Amino acid sequence: MASSSSFLLLLFSVISLTAIESMPAYFPGAIYQSSPHKQAKTTKPKIPYKTHYFPQLLDHFTFQPKSSKTFYQKYLVNNQYWHKGAPIFVYTGNEGDIDWFAANTGFMLDIAPKFHALLVFIEHRFYGESLPFGNKSYKSARTLGYLNSQQALADYAVLIRSLKKNLSSETSPVVVFGGSYGGMLAAWFRLKYPHIAIGALASSAPILQFDGITPWSSFYDAVSQDYKDASLNCYEVIRGCWAELDELSTQKEGLAEVSRTFKTCKNLRSIYSARDWLWSAFVYTAMVNYPMEANFMMPLPAYPVEEMCKIIDGLSPETTKLSRVFAAASLYYNYSQTEKCFKLEDDTDAHGLHGWDWQVKNSSANVQ
Ligand SMILES: *[C@@H]1O[C@H](CO)[C@@H](O)[C@H](O)[C@H]1NC(C)=O
Ligand SMILES: *[C@@H]1O[C@H](CO)[C@@H](O)[C@H](O)[C@H]1NC(C)=O
Ligand SMILES: *[C@@H]1O[C@H](CO)[C@@H](O)[C@H](O)[C@H]1NC(C)=O
Ligand SMILES: *[C@@H]1O[C@H](CO)[C@@H](O)[C@H](O)[C@H]1NC(C)=O
Repeated sequence: MASSSSFLLLLFSVISLTAIESMPAYFPGAIYQSSPHKQAKTTKPKIPYKTHYFPQLLDHFTFQPKSSKTFYQKYLVNNQYWHKGAPIFVYTGNEGDIDWFAANTGFMLDIAPKFHALLVFIEHRFYGESLPFGNKSYKSARTLGYLNSQQALADYAVLIRSLKKNLSSETSPVVVFGGSYGGMLAAWFRLKYPHIAIGALASSAPILQFDGITPWSSFYDAVSQDYKDASLNCYEVIRGCWAELDELSTQKEGLAEVSRTFKTCKNLRSIYSARDWLWSAFVYTAMVNYPMEANFMMPLPAYPVEEMCKIIDGLSPETTKLSRVFAAASLYYNYSQTEKCFKLEDDTDAHGLHGWDWQVKNSSANVQ
């Protein structure tokens, strides 16, 4: 899906904003959530940006006692190509640590020299280090009520104006960039604050997924197409594996067998964990099917969908579909070749996880 663009995309995460009712019951939002956070914490990416913190207003829209409270919002700057008066390119941060998005958004860095642009990446409130109530930010609706896209857009407006003033560069044109939910933020920003941004580049931003404008299945259709394009056999094997899993779920020894096949660290409590685990591997790999080796969700080779299909096609049709898809999913979970076993039911709750869950489920009706 991302073959021609090095831009990041978290399309799936946004799909959950709109299609939540129509999602299958096993929708593993939490698994998706924990991986970027875990990754951001374990492997801090090296990025050519300087970190700053801006005292940001908690509430841009009311005059309640708490609204004048401020918190420190993290933002990153690269001025190595910048000429005063030249454009300012701003990444409107989405649901995660901003360093992680900066490390995976090469496009802005690529074009900066040509435009002599200043590059700015702003972290979204309630993610990464930009926690308005510190480690109590996710405590209750009293704090989480300040987590929404409207406040986030206003944060960006305030920060950008302050930055331009400080740089004595008020006439610099501002262009906003974003991927996935961040792409929607970029487009919404341009619409809502046209006096601050002259343009927006919204990558993988499913703005038209709202209100049934496009069918909710379009995301999964695109995922399926990726695998079909790689190999029809591969697609059929993945499609057929769910029935094998269902069949095993009816057998007494099924759970133990699945645990063995999937090399789980502990015996599985539910067969659905295997389904979620496979689902994540195939969906996320399609999302990050970059033409080069990359480490966005997980470390993966170039064209990972094709690589997965080579694995499936390379195994004998005698072997079960389940063991073939397991081998393919192992590319996603074990590209490092260091995993001894797989934790399919690892429900350790990486911090920040609730944030996106809360934002998605409690604001699906009023994202904008
Ligand atoms: C939360 O933050 C406070 C103050 O910074 C600190 O004393 C406390 O240990 C933190 N708690 C956790 C669970 O991190
Ligand atoms: C601009 O300067 C003021 C005053 O020093 C400072 O408080 C503010 O944080 C700066 N703005 C940004 C975006 O860094
Ligand atoms: C991960 O890859 C290594 C190297 O190929 C292999 O020895 C190991 O068994 C794999 N781990 C799992 C859980 O399959
Ligand atoms: C949404 O808000 C309600 C009330 O504030 C809260 O009880 C619920 O847990 C929230 N939903 C999620 C998914 O966090």
